[in-house]
Amino acid sequence: MGILLILLLVVVVLLLLLLLASVGQLTPDFYASTCPQLASIVAEQVYQAAQADPRMPASLVRLHFHDCFVNGCDGSVLLSGYEQLAGPNLNSIRGLNVIADIKAAVEQACPATVSCADILAIAARDSVVLASKPLCNPGWTVLLGRRDSLTASEEAANVGIPGPFLNVEQLNANFANVGLSPQDVVVLSGAHTFGKVHCSFFSDRLYNFNNTFRPDPTMDPAQVTLLRSVCPRIFPGLGGTVSLDQGTRFIFDNSFYQELQQNRGILQMDQELSRDPTTAVLVSQLAAPDSNFTTIFGQAMVKLGNVGVLTGARGEIRKICSQIN
Ligand code: HEM
Ligand SMILES: *[C@@H]1O[C@H](CO)[C@@H](O)[C@H](O)[C@H]1NC(C)=O
Repeated sequence: MGILLILLLVVVVLLLLLLLASVGQLTPDFYASTCPQLASIVAEQVYQAAQADPRMPASLVRLHFHDCFVNGCDGSVLLSGYEQLAGPNLNSIRGLNVIADIKAAVEQACPATVSCADILAIAARDSVVLASKPLCNPGWTVLLGRRDSLTASEEAANVGIPGPFLNVEQLNANFANVGLSPQDVVVLSGAHTFGKVHCSFFSDRLYNFNNTFRPDPTMDPAQVTLLRSVCPRIFPGLGGTVSLDQGTRFIFDNSFYQELQQNRGILQMDQELSRDPTTAVLVSQLAAPDSNFTTIFGQAMVKLGNVGVLTGARGEIRKICSQIN
């Protein structure tokens, strides 16, 4: 009887282990013994990149987001061609060279060990910490163990990555496709607290809102005037870029939500977040001077980083992020 019970227990434990392995959970210490220098190598490289280009932290965070929304966080956006040619990415994603440089440094220290998808996830976290006011954002614990995809898809990128003219309901549906919640929509959009946007994504709001040949009446008129000085009326594609958060341009903080409350949001989808009754309350909480935005943002980034990951024996560890082995 005793032996049978022990046997049963052993079987149950084995089954549980098998289940865990197949679910493929990410862990914070995945490379603790195989690449102990990983965190410091990535942090140093992101720091150097940010010194050279203060916009780069924002670009790296967006790159991670665009990776995760297309077949999961699997480094697919890094493969040359494919997703990089999709509408939301073409002439718009940045930081591919930075990731390539980080990967080269990591390969030198720990060859054929760390995935490009994991490097991107760590770089995104380091970017947020670096762009925050000194010592005011500890960031979050990045879970690791992702593997790199063998494929990428331009079509999946066009379908999966949300566009700037969606309303809250449509954004919620888009995020639900990858298992993210309506709260995640509001909190992760807070990444628009830094970085830049091309005029073509919002110039209708300056000149011809809903084909009225007038600016969006809900945008602060001073903001309209300011943005018009950068974005030409015709051929908006020729215009430059403006900061998504005109309050504190390169700083990662909650000023983006405060701008929304003053009707100074740039993208239509951002401004909708403070207008839609289902999201307005959360926006005003996040805009408060003592809000816990950075904490909640970190939690949402962990969720984002878990989307559709390849673990175990699936995928591969790329040698070069821009091509499969
Ligand atoms: C909710 C739906 C979202 C839409 C419709 C959207 C749309 C956009 C657009 C149109 C741009 C400007 C791109 C350009 O002009 O080149 C942009 C920039 C950016 N987005 Fe989003 N975004 C969304 C969510 C997110 C999320 C979830 C994150 C990250 C967690 C994010 C991070 C960024 C950052 C940091 C930039 C600036 C990038 C740079 O300066 O290089 N966005 N986004
Ligand atoms: C953040 O603040 C809101 C209220 O402003 C609260 O409901 C929520 O529990 C807080 N979250 C965390 C993780 O502290």
